[in-house]
Amino acid sequence: MNILFLASELHPLIKTGGLADVAGSLPQALRELDHDVRVLLPAYPQAKAQCTDLNPVAEFDLLDRPATLLDATLPDIAMPVWLLDVPPWFDRLENPYLSPEGEPWPDNAERFGGFCWAGFHLALDRLGLDWQPDVVHCNDWQTGLVPALLSQEKTRPATVFTIHNLAYQGVFPPAVFSQLRLPRSLWHMDGLEFHSQLSFIKGGLMYADRINTVSPTYAKEIQTPAFGCGLEGVLKARKEHLSGILNGIDTHKWNPATDPWIPHVYDRDSLRQKSLSKAALQNRFKLPQEPDTPLLAFISRLVPQKGIDLILQSLTHLIDYPLQFVFLGSGNSDFEHGLFYWSRRYPDRVAVHIGFDEPLSHLVEAGADIFLMPSRFEPCGLNQMYSQRYGTVPVVHRTGGLADTVVDATPDRLDNHTATGIGFSQPVGGAFQEAVKRAWLLYSQKDTWRDLQQTGMAQDFSWKRSAAEYHRLYKQALDDLEARPKTGLSV
Ligand code: ADP
Ligand code: GLC
Repeated sequence: MNILFLASELHPLIKTGGLADVAGSLPQALRELDHDVRVLLPAYPQAKAQCTDLNPVAEFDLLDRPATLLDATLPDIAMPVWLLDVPPWFDRLENPYLSPEGEPWPDNAERFGGFCWAGFHLALDRLGLDWQPDVVHCNDWQTGLVPALLSQEKTRPATVFTIHNLAYQGVFPPAVFSQLRLPRSLWHMDGLEFHSQLSFIKGGLMYADRINTVSPTYAKEIQTPAFGCGLEGVLKARKEHLSGILNGIDTHKWNPATDPWIPHVYDRDSLRQKSLSKAALQNRFKLPQEPDTPLLAFISRLVPQKGIDLILQSLTHLIDYPLQFVFLGSGNSDFEHGLFYWSRRYPDRVAVHIGFDEPLSHLVEAGADIFLMPSRFEPCGLNQMYSQRYGTVPVVHRTGGLADTVVDATPDRLDNHTATGIGFSQPVGGAFQEAVKRAWLLYSQKDTWRDLQQTGMAQDFSWKRSAAEYHRLYKQALDDLEARPKTGLSV
């Protein structure tokens, strides 16, 4: 199959979160299944700077701006990537979505609307590249208009839309609709209109042949008011075409047996070496070198989704326990200040690094004993899987992908060696504190703890299985398209 994969971030070229990890791995896993996958990404300066070769292959106009499509050669990755180069839109060194003040860039609708138009032209082979996809795979709101635009065509590829996070929807004032030159036939309640606003994500949800999200539990949750962000009705109406496919992880990059960012590699049979990473992490964060004090870590965007407020509230109680805490993250400045408060007050117990630091995130995964993910909701989450691979036991709120990838350490699951972490069911401070205390108690039972670590390390989170599921999803999307009357009109 020919697959056009559209994403607004891709590791290692540009990353703000897990979407980048997925876009950096899934297309490669699909290529290993013999699909011809090509990726379209905006030409951010960081992305261009890392490519070893860039060749212009098409020049055209997008919303009256001159655009160039660059054929990019990536460092160490044999994957065809096209970069959409429109300097006034993408030539910004900062975050792809946010200004330095942390506000969405004011022209985001035009930037990603233009990106969608480019995806549309590529999908129909209208840029003279002589390559036509069978399936267009769109990811998150930044690509949501593509299925909508394609739905207006008589002959078109099948479309798949993946929801990585329903909380980000790309909703803009109604005037943007005509500025983006969208066909009038798309403006209605069952189209791109959302409470009189223009919704990019609805383009994916209403018009893609198949919709999926990144875990089976989140696929169910988003059909309810508590998780649906106002779109639960739309999702419920399309439930026959909605599924959940768990993300995989890049098991080469995230491998404690070969990781270049940790001082001493280790595996299931040499777990003792993990203590060397712990010592290095304590040293790096200027915490006392206490090998037997449980070291708890958190790596994340500092936003309410991730439950950082639960951790901050809980520190008042947890600080009475012999524990050390390491935080790596950036985002909301209130949370950053909250963390600094604790680290200043208890410098021997709480350490913070504000910023996005990929190598450091590997050392934190390797050096910590316990990984905290009290997310209020979590479409999939990757760190709980990285943690298991590194023998770092995750403590998670049982929601979304966290519920699907962490097996709670109940007594019988400990007995039958299937437990991989500690879960709690309500995202409230008390439940989180209880879960941390359970982790602390288990940590003191050395054999049980080792078993928990080793069971986690033995899990298969590779992309292979998920890529095969995407292959099935693409086939379903093609079947749906085949069965649809070729009216050129939308659903
Ligand atoms: P989300 O996409 O919602 O942020 P995920 O768990 O899917 O959550 O993915 C987050 C990714 O970003 C992981 O690879 C994680 O290690 C990484 N990450 C988050 N914050 C930081 C940070 N401050 N420094 C380095 N890596 C980070
Ligand atoms: C989103 C979600 C996260 C998921 C990631 C990749 O950012 O918040 O849970 O793992 O996308 O799919």
